Amino acid sequence: MRILHAASEIFPYVKVGGLGDVMAALPVAQRQLGADARVMLPGFGSLLAGVEGLEPVRTFPDLLGQGEARLLQGRTASGVPIYLLDHPALFNRDGGPYVEAGDSHLRFAAFAWACAQVGLHGDGRGWQPAIVQAHDWQAALAPAYMAQDAVTGPRSVMTIHNMAYQGLYPASLLPALWIGPTLFHPEGAEFYGRINFLKAGLAYASRITTVSPTYAREIQHHEAGFGLEGILARRRRDLSGILNGVDYDVWNPAATPHLQHHYDVRHMSGKKVAKNLLQRETGLAESPDRPLFGVVSRLVDQKGLDLVIENIAYLIQLDAQLVVLGTGDPRLEAALQAAAEAHPDSVAAVLDYDEGLAHRILAGSDVILVPSRHEPCGLTQLYALRYGSLPLVRKTGGLADTVVDANAHSLMDSTATGFVFKEASSWILGETIGRACRLYREDPKAWASVQRHAMTRNFSWKASAQEYLDLYASLLR
Ligand code: ADP
Ligand code: GLC
Repeated sequence: MRILHAASEIFPYVKVGGLGDVMAALPVAQRQLGADARVMLPGFGSLLAGVEGLEPVRTFPDLLGQGEARLLQGRTASGVPIYLLDHPALFNRDGGPYVEAGDSHLRFAAFAWACAQVGLHGDGRGWQPAIVQAHDWQAALAPAYMAQDAVTGPRSVMTIHNMAYQGLYPASLLPALWIGPTLFHPEGAEFYGRINFLKAGLAYASRITTVSPTYAREIQHHEAGFGLEGILARRRRDLSGILNGVDYDVWNPAATPHLQHHYDVRHMSGKKVAKNLLQRETGLAESPDRPLFGVVSRLVDQKGLDLVIENIAYLIQLDAQLVVLGTGDPRLEAALQAAAEAHPDSVAAVLDYDEGLAHRILAGSDVILVPSRHEPCGLTQLYALRYGSLPLVRKTGGLADTVVDANAHSLMDSTATGFVFKEASSWILGETIGRACRLYREDPKAWASVQRHAMTRNFSWKASAQEYLDLYASLLR
């Protein structure tokens, strides 16, 4: 089966968050199951420079009124065929994939349009997908363009990694984006008079998926639907949640090049070393016995880190430590920086993007905090499980589907893997942090047993990759 994944990130070439990890791993897992899965991305500079064996396979004489573009084909380091849409003026820029220069609508419409052309007419070398799977708003117009151009064509899947980002633009841009009246109406791409890229994908894709079963339910309601709950509820029979997996070749404390001392569930001494080295690296007091809480996150409202900041004084009172790695909202950055300066022994803030330090925080912490307001799937809690750092999460989206709270019952039957709280309040988060500290200090045996269970949970991609293949098969029948 031929599948084309259209997306704007792929680790290690271009990654802002979890989407990059998913695009690096899902196609590999699908290929291991026998499918011919390929990926297509905008020709960002890091991809043009990093992907090997690129050669031109076809041209688009006029890419959405922006002149000629080339389609290049190569292979990723893990052997997945990759197509890049090469149009330097649109895509080869400094500053990351989403740097805003006032033409994001054009960039991602052009990308989606080219993906639709590959879907409808092939790659110029005789390869045409049976399924085009569009990931997030940047690729979401692809199913709509396919519907606009042809009655028959490949089936399409729209995958939502985050409802909060939709791609909303004024309707005056419609002609420039080659979006005609057959697409622009309330049942289609129109959203309160504006163009909504994600909504176009939701309206025209043959099926809709999102990255966890709980999130698939939540987004049909006001709080998590971000205005699109209506269309999602209408299409609920075509909507399903398929949990993301983990690439255990990358996220493995027994092998990652980012750790000096490796460990696994049977040899845990390396984890103690990792804690000590992390404290040293981030300037924290080198205390083996203080519970160390870690965060690796984009610093945006969705992630609930304001609740963590409100708990810093309490963490210090509990004689715990906190290390945060992340970039984003300047107010959150400033608050974390100030706390770190005021309490250097107890709080460290690294306001940067650092893949290696992310691994070292996952390894060296005792607890990983993920107090998100919304979380479609969440990957850091899955990485934390494998690294034996107990995830402390809010019961929402994929976090609710992947972490089992340590309570009397789950401790007794050995199903606990972390700590879960419901209400998004700093008080309840504080209570849960207190609960984690007590278990850590008062019952090291129970802690070790939860760790063992967490580390042996298996969220490999195989099962999820198969679920997608089953879904495609049902579309092609
Ligand atoms: P989201 O996609 O919403 O950001 P996920 O939990 O799905 O959330 O994925 C986040 C990914 O980004 C993880 O691989 C995490 O390690 C990584 N990440 C986030 N912030 C940073 C950072 N500052 N430095 C390194 N990696 C980061
Ligand atoms: C998004 C979500 C995150 C998810 C990731 C990969 O960025 O915020 O929860 O894990 O996509 O699907």
